[in-house]
Amino acid sequence: MSNRVLFFDTTLRDGEQSPGATMNLQEKLRIAYQLEVLGVDIMEAGFPASSQGDFESVQRIARQAKSIQVAGLCRCMDSDIDRCWEAVKDARNPRIHTFLSTSPLHMKYKLRKDPEVVLQMIEAGVRRCAGYTDNVEFSAEDASRSERDFLCRVVETAIRAGATTINLPDTVGYAQPQEFADLIRYVIENTPNSDKAIFSVHCHNDLGLAVANTLAALSVGARQAEVTISGIGERAGNAALEELAMALRVRKDYYGLEHGIVTEQLYPSCRLLSMTIGQPIPNNKAIVGANAFAHESGIHQDGMLKNRETYEIMTPQSVGRNESNLVIGKHSGRNAVRNKFESLGYSLDDDQLQIVFEAVKALADRKKTLLDDDLMALVQEEVYRMPDLYRLRHVSVQSSDAGGVPPTAAVLMDVDGMEKSGAGFGVGPVDAIFNVINDMLGREPQLEQYAVNAVTGGTDALGEVTVRLREGEFSAVGRGAHPDILVATARAYVNALNHLAKKEKEGERLHCQHS
Ligand code: KIV
Ligand code: ZN
Repeated sequence: MSNRVLFFDTTLRDGEQSPGATMNLQEKLRIAYQLEVLGVDIMEAGFPASSQGDFESVQRIARQAKSIQVAGLCRCMDSDIDRCWEAVKDARNPRIHTFLSTSPLHMKYKLRKDPEVVLQMIEAGVRRCAGYTDNVEFSAEDASRSERDFLCRVVETAIRAGATTINLPDTVGYAQPQEFADLIRYVIENTPNSDKAIFSVHCHNDLGLAVANTLAALSVGARQAEVTISGIGERAGNAALEELAMALRVRKDYYGLEHGIVTEQLYPSCRLLSMTIGQPIPNNKAIVGANAFAHESGIHQDGMLKNRETYEIMTPQSVGRNESNLVIGKHSGRNAVRNKFESLGYSLDDDQLQIVFEAVKALADRKKTLLDDDLMALVQEEVYRMPDLYRLRHVSVQSSDAGGVPPTAAVLMDVDGMEKSGAGFGVGPVDAIFNVINDMLGREPQLEQYAVNAVTGGTDALGEVTVRLREGEFSAVGRGAHPDILVATARAYVNALNHLAKKEKEGERLHCQHS
């Protein structure tokens, strides 16, 4: 058996299903590009039958991809499978990933189908996929709560029908490492044609065991791991790519397994995702959190000075956390800026470079040294925003602690191409900004979350604001970055309103399609 583990990344599908992680097309294309740079083997770009937007983004990603395999997810039904193939077929290396539930609970209550009917559906669905391509993955949803011998029949059927990868997910994050390893081993050993497929696992993190369960499965023969950047995903998320990649690298002596992840790209990838979805990386997050390499206690510091290995099992450089020596500031030329962005993984065309160059100069007027994180926040802000329905042009805010003089905000915006302005008051400056924008747009979303984070250290750091809004059945997250946190606040608010508007439009369209 090969000792090479395939990394299957589902940040753009399962990850995007996590609350607030919705991305626009430009953002998805950027993440997809980064996944190639990171050395991922297969990326799941989306669920094409779920919406027109998802179909289009999977198709664009498939066409952009170079050598990475591009998978689309589909239920085990003809219309989903056909739509999926239509979306991925232009990739150099397309994959159809189809799934059906196999646990007694799911078959009875979700599918309302007998096990024998489920087997027939798997046979027919996988066969249809195999008619399009020989790169077919079948997932037995809720495998960890399925009956072992039935699971073996499921796997045998799927392989016979043409599946070349068999994924056994711990869909609800219920399994325990030893128990999960036993299940995977059992299925491999008791399915007659198991040697004809690669076994994969997809573990959720409801009990905090997603990475542990994945490692346990790899140690008994699974050779594909389904992961997401920073572990984002449904509910508590999926196995974190960066944790799995580093566990396999740092403990190669124990697992004896290889992979193709370029670990120096781990931190840039997590940081990119964090900025894209507006969710800061927690300080104590393994591998990429701010404290992951910080040594606070005197005893530890003393040990580190004598020999780093006393308290450090991997170097910050090995996960891409190195300060680069190419410093960008006020006097940097266009070429230096282009090179810098290339070194951060952004290849900009001339128009994008011009936009970014001007923004770099404007930021450098306020801040002496621009750090990598400042630059990444800036390019996200200036280049990867969706073509907006609402666009903020200017905001001016007056704070006040004088009784009788409330904080005020004045805002200038483009609304669907038309210029609009407004001014008003609030209990505080943030409230004033939101009130003015709401009045101008005739909207009344509820603010569910508001957070400010300094992108880098120092009082001149770029402020990154995240807001989560809810209006009716839809909720959306927005992000904005600027050295002035009130400007960042207004940007984040408008960004969230754009996401809300997009969701409402998508929702309406689906409604029309189904009525
Ligand atoms: O969690 C799960 O079971 C899934 C499958 C669709 C692979 O996401
Ligand atoms: Zn999942």
